[in-house]
Amino acid sequence: MKNIPLILMGCGGVGRHLLQHIVSCRLLHAKLGVHLRVVGVSDSKSLVLTSDVIKAELNDNFLSEVCRVKSDGSSLSKLNDLGDCKVFSNSESRTKILDIASVLGKSTGLALVDCSASSETTGVLTQVVDLGCCVVLANKKPLTSTLEDYDKLVSYPRRIRHESTVGAGLPVISSLNRIISSGDPIHRIIGSLSGTLGYVMSEVEDGKPLSQVVKTAKSLGYTEPDPRDDLGGMDVARKALILARLLGRRISLDSIKIESLYPKEMEPGVMSVQDFMENGLVKLDNNIQERVKKASLNGNVLRYVCVIDGSRCEVGLQELPKNSALGRLRGSDNVLEIYSRCYNEQPLVIQGAGAGNDTTAAGVLADILDLQDLFPL
Ligand SMILES: NC(=O)c1ccc[n+]([C@@H]2O[C@H](COP(=O)([O-])OP(=O)(O)OC[C@H]3O[C@@H](n4cnc5c(N)ncnc54)[C@H](OP(=O)(O)O)[C@@H]3O)[C@@H](O)[C@H]2O)c1
Ligand SMILES: *[C@@H]1O[C@H](CO)[C@@H](O)[C@H](O)[C@H]1NC(C)=O
Repeated sequence: MKNIPLILMGCGGVGRHLLQHIVSCRLLHAKLGVHLRVVGVSDSKSLVLTSDVIKAELNDNFLSEVCRVKSDGSSLSKLNDLGDCKVFSNSESRTKILDIASVLGKSTGLALVDCSASSETTGVLTQVVDLGCCVVLANKKPLTSTLEDYDKLVSYPRRIRHESTVGAGLPVISSLNRIISSGDPIHRIIGSLSGTLGYVMSEVEDGKPLSQVVKTAKSLGYTEPDPRDDLGGMDVARKALILARLLGRRISLDSIKIESLYPKEMEPGVMSVQDFMENGLVKLDNNIQERVKKASLNGNVLRYVCVIDGSRCEVGLQELPKNSALGRLRGSDNVLEIYSRCYNEQPLVIQGAGAGNDTTAAGVLADILDLQDLFPL
């Protein structure tokens, strides 16, 4: 049986689903000859480690208990029966992880899995790469900080997987890597990469006011607690940056043109969420409605997309032909059109659910399994 030792950073919706998948896939993985050995789990405050990182693991009962405690909104440090595990504070956890990485990196290997939503993990991730460890990310932040950090993270391309950073479980990164490695030049990528904005734009197209659509989306749990986190476009811009860098563009977040759907005077520092929902949003209704109408007169539809084209990399509203994959998009699916020499007239289209804890965690798990050949028997 092949052992893959791993440390999970982040125990939110995605991290917990990953732990549940790992536990429920034991038999399946055993048939594949693989065992995922979870040696540590962290949240924003602490790191829990098995006492013997060389041989032992956090067993399945313990992992279930971790999920229970975390879904109650509690901290890992509140775990009752720690057995022979040890808890470290956030300030100690970086050195601890690096210690383990330098021991395991030379022997059994180690996968450091980032399911946090923090930029604080970037430091430890860039360091373990040089210690011979593998990195798996759902978190976009480490890949979208400086070019120096990016270069470090991808310096051993076989050791990094980050499928879930763009389009959740959809095979976006792997498809692009296949096209790139076959020497087929990609000249254009255009995609709707926010489930929330996809939903909002297709509802607005049906004539509903933006304000009403956003309120409904928020009440259905489709948006972030502050919907401006979706409407501002920053999350889409991070995904666009990851794709652009994959295509070899040497750019950073600040060189991406980002169109926000709300103006500066409605920014979080200026207006409360409640004020924005009750008084801000309605002021945006007319403008969007007019743009939808104008697009429609041109035979087009309005979509919130990322475009990577030549030296252009931007994120915002675009008029697109009704009769294209993006034009036909309804609801919260993600859709990506990829144009290359081989996919010239007819783009490669990748479409499906682009969010959700379960699908995102499944993407992370598949990434981990994809690394198995790097671990010794
Ligand atoms: N959910 C989706 O549909 C989806 C889709 C694609 C990608 N993603 C990405 O997947 C990641 C996780 O998403 P999520 O929805 O699970 O987020 P979440 O519910 O906010 O969970 C984040 C977790 O990270 C922990 N954390 C924060 N800072 C940390 C640090 N410095 N070290 C270790 N852990 C830290 C948090 O700890 P506390 O519990 O102590 O706060 C929390 O457990 C995000 O980067 C997100 O962008 C999510
Ligand atoms: C994902 O998990 C978070 C945290 O537990 C939860 O608030 C959210 O509703 C979940 N999302 C979905 C789509 O189930």
